[in-house]
Amino acid sequence: MSIIASLTTDHRNVDALFTRFEQADPSDLKELGHLRDLILEQLSIHATIEEQTLYPAIREAADDATDDVLEALEEHHAVKAVLAELERMSPGAERFRAKMQVVIENVRHHVEEEEGDDGLFAAARKHLKQPQLEEMATVAERLREAGPTRPHPLSPDQPPFNVLLGVPMAVLDRTVTTARKVIERTVLGKAG
Ligand SMILES: [Fe+2]
Ligand SMILES: [Fe+2]
Repeated sequence: MSIIASLTTDHRNVDALFTRFEQADPSDLKELGHLRDLILEQLSIHATIEEQTLYPAIREAADDATDDVLEALEEHHAVKAVLAELERMSPGAERFRAKMQVVIENVRHHVEEEEGDDGLFAAARKHLKQPQLEEMATVAERLREAGPTRPHPLSPDQPPFNVLLGVPMAVLDRTVTTARKVIERTVLGKAG
């Protein structure tokens, strides 16, 4: 499988979560909080994969792609900053849904650019060879199993520091994410 197919699947999956969030009953705080957790996790893993694999590879292979890669990194950064706020926010807070809507609009715009005719995925198809695209898909699968699951807007997003610091961060993240799921299951279990 190519990394592009893997990342495109992520885009569709996260958009399905966005639609669920937009259609959720605003008074169903449990559902809003649950969707926030899923969106946080999926976007954090997806951004890490792009930042550790595709983006640096495109930058190295295509001189004229540097500006687009830098803009994409800034867009990731802006989204992570809002996600980090959302992570600490109660789903019942007045600004909670508005804040998530900003994430949704920014990510949809970003995805449109990535997948567009002049976007980074097109640049990857043009400048990178199939074996490299497949090798990156393998790395992506490893990151899905062991990469950071929470947004870190202040951490490095370019190699080598994102790779070096990503590992200890991911271990801590997964402890937090697992604990959150256990709590949610326990609470929901009791409620049900
Ligand atoms: Fe991206
Ligand atoms: Fe993406």
